[in-house]
Amino acid sequence: QTLERRVSPPVVKYGGFWVPEMVFRQILSTQKNFKAQGTDIILSTLPKSGTTWLKALTFSIANRHLFTIDQSPLLTSSPHTLVPFFEFNVYWEQENPDLSNVPSPRIFATHMPFELLPDSIRESDCRIICICRNPLDQFVSYCNFSPKENSEPVPIDKNFDMFCQGIHFYGPFWDHMLGYWNAHLENPRKVLFLRYEDLKEDITSQVKKIAEFIGFPFSLEEEEQGLIDQISGLCSFESLSNLAPNKTGSVNGIVKNSSFFRKGQVGDWTNYLTPAMAARIKKLMDNKFQGSGLMYNT
Ligand code: A3P
Repeated sequence: QTLERRVSPPVVKYGGFWVPEMVFRQILSTQKNFKAQGTDIILSTLPKSGTTWLKALTFSIANRHLFTIDQSPLLTSSPHTLVPFFEFNVYWEQENPDLSNVPSPRIFATHMPFELLPDSIRESDCRIICICRNPLDQFVSYCNFSPKENSEPVPIDKNFDMFCQGIHFYGPFWDHMLGYWNAHLENPRKVLFLRYEDLKEDITSQVKKIAEFIGFPFSLEEEEQGLIDQISGLCSFESLSNLAPNKTGSVNGIVKNSSFFRKGQVGDWTNYLTPAMAARIKKLMDNKFQGSGLMYNT
C-alpha cells in the first residue's frame, strides 16, 4: 500500500492521522503486539499537551505506597524514563519486547489517537487517561519545541497553514481530541478526559480525580498528611524543570529531556499569534467541535 507522505513535517497518513514517519514502524508494532492487562494505565496525549506533567503525576499517585516524597524516583529519573512511550521507547528498537516483568500497575504513554490504539487496550479493562490543551497554546508550544541539540524551532508562519489543515505530528488536532472525547462520553470509567488548563487552575481536585479514576483514591489520613500537596508540588513545572534528571539526558538518545520544559503557562499564544491567526483556529474549533459537547474557552 502506498502511503501519503509529507517531508516537512516528516509524516505519513495512516488511519486518517498524520503520524511521524520516524515512529511509523513502532506504531505498527504496538498495534500488533501490545497485549493490555486489566490493571494497565495508558496515558494518551497529543504532543505538547502536558504529557510530561501527566506522567509525573500518575506515576507518583499510583506508586505512592512504595516510597516517601523525598525518596521519589522522580528525583533521579525523568518522567519519560519512569513512564515510557510505546512508540519512542517500548517498541523503539524491539518489535515485540517482553513486558511481562513490568510491575503492576504498568503505566505506558502514547501519542496515538484513540482509533489507532491496539485492540487489546480498547477491549481490556485497562484505563486510559487523556490530557488535552487548548489548540492555540498547543500549537505555540509545538512550534517552540526544540528537541535536539542544534535544532531550530519551526517558524510559526510556516507551520500555521499546515496546522489548520491538520498536517502536524499526530494531527488533525480536532480528530485526535474528538476520538478521546467521544470515547470518554461512551465510557467514562474507561477514559478520563483531562484539560491542561484545569490542572493549572486547581491541581488538587485533578490529582484526586486521577487517583479515583485509576482505583487508588486518597484516604482521609493521606489527605490530612498533605500527600496531595506534596505530589502536586513535586510535579509542578518549577519543581520538575529544576530536577537534575530533567536537565540532562534524552528520551531515546534523540529528544532532550530538558526540551519538555519551556514556560508551562496558559495563554502564551497571545505572545505569538496574530488576532487573525487566533480567529482562524477558533473558527475551525467551533466548526469541528460543533454538537460534540467539547469546547475550549480561550
Ligand atoms: P510550553 O511549551 O507551553 O511551555 P508535553 O509534555 O506534552 O511535551 O508538553 C510540554 C508542555 O508542557 C510545555 O509547554 C511544557 O513547558 C509544559 N510542561 C511540562 N511540565 C509541566 C508541568 N509540570 N506543569 C505545567 N506545564 C508543564
